[in-house]
Amino acid sequence: MRDRKRDSRLAVAISLSIALAGSTAHAGPLVGARHGIVASTNPLASRVGADVLARGGNAVDAAVAVAFALAVTWPAAGNLGGGGFMLIRRSDGRAEVIDYRERAPLAAARDMYLDSRGNVVPEASTVGLRAAGVPGTVAGLALAHRRHGALPWRDLVEPARRLAQDGFALDLANVVMLRRGAALLARFPESARLFLRDGKPPMVGDPLIQADLAQTLARISRDPRDFYTGETSRLLLEEMAANGGIITAKDLAGYEPTIRKPLEGQYRGFTILTMPPPSSGGAILLEMLHMLEKRPIGALGHNSADEIHLLVEVMRRAFADKAAYMGDTDFVKVPINGLINPQYADSLAQTIDMARATPSAQVKAGLPSRFEAPETTHFTIIDKDGNVVTNTYTLNGLYGCGATVKGTGVLLNNEMDDFTSKPGAPNMFGLVQGEANAIAPGKRPLSAMAPTIVLKDGKVRFALGSPGGPTIINTVLQVIINVIDFDMDISQAIAQPRFHHQWLPDAILWEPFGVSKETRAELERRGHRFADKPMAIGDAQAIAVDPRDGTRQAASDPRQGGIPVGN
Ligand code: DON
Repeated sequence: MRDRKRDSRLAVAISLSIALAGSTAHAGPLVGARHGIVASTNPLASRVGADVLARGGNAVDAAVAVAFALAVTWPAAGNLGGGGFMLIRRSDGRAEVIDYRERAPLAAARDMYLDSRGNVVPEASTVGLRAAGVPGTVAGLALAHRRHGALPWRDLVEPARRLAQDGFALDLANVVMLRRGAALLARFPESARLFLRDGKPPMVGDPLIQADLAQTLARISRDPRDFYTGETSRLLLEEMAANGGIITAKDLAGYEPTIRKPLEGQYRGFTILTMPPPSSGGAILLEMLHMLEKRPIGALGHNSADEIHLLVEVMRRAFADKAAYMGDTDFVKVPINGLINPQYADSLAQTIDMARATPSAQVKAGLPSRFEAPETTHFTIIDKDGNVVTNTYTLNGLYGCGATVKGTGVLLNNEMDDFTSKPGAPNMFGLVQGEANAIAPGKRPLSAMAPTIVLKDGKVRFALGSPGGPTIINTVLQVIINVIDFDMDISQAIAQPRFHHQWLPDAILWEPFGVSKETRAELERRGHRFADKPMAIGDAQAIAVDPRDGTRQAASDPRQGGIPVGN
């Protein structure tokens, strides 16, 4: 009974924080383009990116412009006050990740969210300024632009500044998000003033004007360091001082994004480029794909009891490893080469019994070190030359910690909740995590974000990513399998109902209409438990290249309001 309660709390927590508008449809439009194309969750932001491509900007220029635009047009997750990961693959084959994840403030401490009896204080790591990590978005976008951009920085910030200044009419997806976020936003006067109308969520068509944010963007367009050492940082520090935050001038001035090498793996002849630590996303994705490699999942029938059983068993095992081993590799040693070693994955997959679910209580993390040789919103863009950007960035929960820095229009993240507040105690996504992800000053909280690019014979076939906390990894996994094993186009692949299992709690999260009564009964007979209620899982944004003639394709998840725009 207690478990059931916890499952439904988990489902509610995840659906609140992921808060997707629609139920699943069978497919959204597959949009085609000749030159370049942008898939993001918000049509205005996709349009901004496509305009940059049409003006001769490359995929990174468009990514910078889309990221700034989403901070205005998708305030639930688009941000200046959060962080993320950008995976870039240039048309010459060079690939890198810009890691602009938030970092724990220097004053952070391992037990900062525990009371004197050692219990986690409710909301301490999720609501208000103390939940915020040092934001990385502005620095990350500036670094990406310095290394790869072709158009002037100012021109990439300007469309967002204009959207903030002139305002735009709220669409249904935004209004649904604001309804879900209203109770949180109402606790912070500045957020309530900006996003609510007399304390209530606005209606579809109401304008959202963000004058302070427009000013902030104007300063950033002159110099991105403004966020860390200029007027914006001054206002941010004032907010911290007035309301008990712990981020200091030293934290801001010292923030640097990091360039990392993507993880690379193989799956059925395709090459997968994906996210290294401090995300667990890429490693766990590769571990799961490797577990499936020798098992012909395509022959099992899509969403059949056998396929769901196999996937759930694979997810359960990989997520047990995530909890045990993963954290910021700048601070802890992660047996990354073991986790992504195909033989290791195969040894784990051999423990799968196709007739019975293995209870999670019996699944302990594997021993990847034996295989160790001597590593929230998403958009995806391809340009006319074939440069690809796949970027996931986030405030963590919807509207982050809820607080807007007065005078800036900047909402702050609650990324500190991605750390282990206490080993064994579930975080807002119900994740039970370990020592490797304990809080330390300057450390990056472990993420699940998994921007990913799939290549065949050295050429880009498709690229994708999604929000959704831990469900991100399983969303990316299922879209990849739908394309490679079930031969779907990316629009069909994204639209299919999905499943999620994360080892603990030992329950399958599921989407409406995802399983027939018979399939569910068969899975329960094998020992699986389903969460009480279905929920929407993920908001994938993908591009693909038709290998026959290079036509660009893009699809936005029908669970949200995105419409890809190309040229
Ligand atoms: O980095 C992570 O894994 C989480 N902070 C992502 C949160 C998320 O995707 C919420 N989304 N809808």
